[in-house]
Amino acid sequence: MEQFSSTADFTQWRAQRSGTCAAVFTMGALHEGHAALVRRARELAGSDGTVVATIFVNPAQFDDAADLGAYPRTLDADAVLLRDNGVDALLAPHADDVYTADRAVTVEPGPLGTVLEGRSRPGHFAGVLTVVAKLLHITAPDIALFGEKDYQQLTLIQRMAADLNFPVRIVGLATVRDHDGLALSSRNARLSPAARQRAAAIPKVLAEVAAALTAGRTVQQALDAGHAQLSERGVTDVDYLVLTGPDLGPVPAAGLARVLVAATVDGVRLIDNREVRL
Ligand code: PAF
Repeated sequence: MEQFSSTADFTQWRAQRSGTCAAVFTMGALHEGHAALVRRARELAGSDGTVVATIFVNPAQFDDAADLGAYPRTLDADAVLLRDNGVDALLAPHADDVYTADRAVTVEPGPLGTVLEGRSRPGHFAGVLTVVAKLLHITAPDIALFGEKDYQQLTLIQRMAADLNFPVRIVGLATVRDHDGLALSSRNARLSPAARQRAAAIPKVLAEVAAALTAGRTVQQALDAGHAQLSERGVTDVDYLVLTGPDLGPVPAAGLARVLVAATVDGVRLIDNREVRL
């Protein structure tokens, strides 16, 4: 695996590659969820194609300097995981290589950027979309893969690519889960053992809400029961537990929908979601 810290050096290397290119963008602190994205990228690119990965802790998507400072940086271990799962080149640039001091233009996410995660984290999705747009231009992939765990992020990236005619196919990959169903996240490492146990209630309650809806309960009944179950299992600080359409729009009368949750457990914000058939 080639490894670059300079975007100019990476671009030179990239220009010499032909065939399908698949990209996985990350902020590091990698886990099995990222490994699954990279393995799928390898399958989609084929053995003659190219798989690129980036590690960049994007300051523009953090609204809290302490959170940015505390973000785990594990570059050496991350590079091993990427290499072992089939990445051809890793770009891990410095912030001043990605952002010029006099930058003025950003990507505006529109109304979907102001609800759910966007309501609690103002400016977050403008930061995400701006850096994803830049990384798509720098790496020039045919395909870019993102996890469904960050469902609103995935939906907004799909919208950006469609609305702004990015010549790339955005692929979403199912959430990778721990043995008890908890969605893998680099944040899970910050949970105490007791909080980790309580956090496992989140995917269980999502499954219960989905089952209740499929069984014909009303949306209100299913979500009320979900809130009660979260609270009973020690997840009391719930930001939202909502049902939406598959594109985060209005709930359809029948067919596929999404149930999404965000809750803080022991000071750690956790998000999760799952598909529901109504
Ligand atoms: O999901 C992430 O790790 C980040 O939001 C992303 C897509 C790499 C942009 O910084």
